[in-house]
Amino acid sequence: MQKYAKMVIDKDFRISEIDKRIYGSFIEHLGRAVYEGIYQPGHPSADENGFRRDVMELVKDLNVPIVRYPGGNFVSSFVWEDSVGPVELRPRRLELAWRSLETNEIGVNEFAKWTKAVGADIMMAVNLGTRGVADACNLLEYCNHPSGTKYSDLRISHGVKEPHNIKTWCLGNEMDGKWQLGSKTPEEYGRLAYETAKAMKLIDPTIELVSCGSSNTDMPTFPQWEATTLEHTYEHVDYVSLHQYFGNRDNDTENFLARSMEMDHFIKTVISVCDFVKAKKRGKKNINLSFDEWNVWFHTDAEDKDTMDNRPWQQAPALLEDHYTFEDALLVGLMLITFIKHADRVKMACLAQLVNVIAPIMTETNGPAWKQTIYYPYLHASKFGRGIALQPVLSSSKHDTKEYTDVTDVDSVAVYNEEADELTIFAVNRDLKDDIVLTCDIGNFEGYSLIEHIVLECDDMKATNSAVQQVVAPKAGNETKVDGRIVTSNLHKASWNVIRLGKRA
Ligand code: AHR
Repeated sequence: MQKYAKMVIDKDFRISEIDKRIYGSFIEHLGRAVYEGIYQPGHPSADENGFRRDVMELVKDLNVPIVRYPGGNFVSSFVWEDSVGPVELRPRRLELAWRSLETNEIGVNEFAKWTKAVGADIMMAVNLGTRGVADACNLLEYCNHPSGTKYSDLRISHGVKEPHNIKTWCLGNEMDGKWQLGSKTPEEYGRLAYETAKAMKLIDPTIELVSCGSSNTDMPTFPQWEATTLEHTYEHVDYVSLHQYFGNRDNDTENFLARSMEMDHFIKTVISVCDFVKAKKRGKKNINLSFDEWNVWFHTDAEDKDTMDNRPWQQAPALLEDHYTFEDALLVGLMLITFIKHADRVKMACLAQLVNVIAPIMTETNGPAWKQTIYYPYLHASKFGRGIALQPVLSSSKHDTKEYTDVTDVDSVAVYNEEADELTIFAVNRDLKDDIVLTCDIGNFEGYSLIEHIVLECDDMKATNSAVQQVVAPKAGNETKVDGRIVTSNLHKASWNVIRLGKRA
């Protein structure tokens, strides 16, 4: 029996302008993200700075607006001073988070050069694990103060005359996690983050600060962590962070594809805690959400543990090199749809990570850079998901999975790009057996016609890409038609769909 879903779209059903920073990403000093990832002098594609041009091209295609750096768990024992100044004088250090060897060949200034080359801003994290207020202030002075002080002049002596003017700063990373170096109780973190935020805003009042939220929804302290810490930090911070990774460990694809509902619930809970604190403080400002780590991550858990336990202190070891399947790409698409639906409060999000480490882009040491399956939904959302998020009035058949009830077979959201006068519908059919006909009443978008329907689908849910074969790649769909204000599209079973409409076609 043919299945149907319906959606009503209207220019006036505005959720919010989408902050482009929800298409951000993350580069950590971890595995081969930096060394052999973005930086590999001697590689045929390397530029004069040693940055791989093939990687830069793929990053530029993604139009990544902001990149979180340098961690992650790495930041909690990062000594930023080791990473600046003449490269030959920089110390080699035991990197404790990932039990690797850090050469410090790439540091703050080199990374700033790379982000400039790819057209992205930096979201910088400070070490609140093993360090504190003074070190965070010194780093900020080094990065953002023009000149005439100890650390700004130190930067200038390192050949960087103009300040980096980094606008977004994370106050530590996953401080609730026992795995984190210098992890803290909510009270300890709240106090430290408050004092650090206060001091940092004295140095540069134009910066925006992210207070650490819970590492995931399974943390025993979630969501009390957010309530307690924000009560300390509310006055001086602008965002709270959320992190979430999903895996399909028991090979239950239906259940796996329902996990975006958990993310949705996570976002709603954190919003309510932020609003509770605002009310308690009689505050005026909203604390918004920075979902600054999200992805699928589970494929290489055992190998990574083995490497760190049994072969530690390697330089740029292969760690967290998950090879993503087609079903992972579907979940990534669903997670992106979830962010767009929450565009009024989720203002930043970082796909963790960008190159080689749980990443959309992989590199061969002696070969090319290539695109993982998850590259494509991320590309499409970043390219076509800019503008106004429109409230999806969606009705779809539903199913239950092992852990979730009332999972819609179709999840969808629409984005109106006023500048280009384009309407884009993102839709995932997460029904593994049946195609579903999606009928959209596009209301006052009447007169728009189809530009293209892009489809990502694959018969094998476990298919992966490689340097030699793009098994999972988008193709043109030809089962969408527009008749006045009704758009009808056949969404193939288990597929990611991007339906673009415009006046100009
Ligand atoms: O992205 C990989 C790791 O996941 C990060 O270092 C940490 O913040 C999180 O647990």
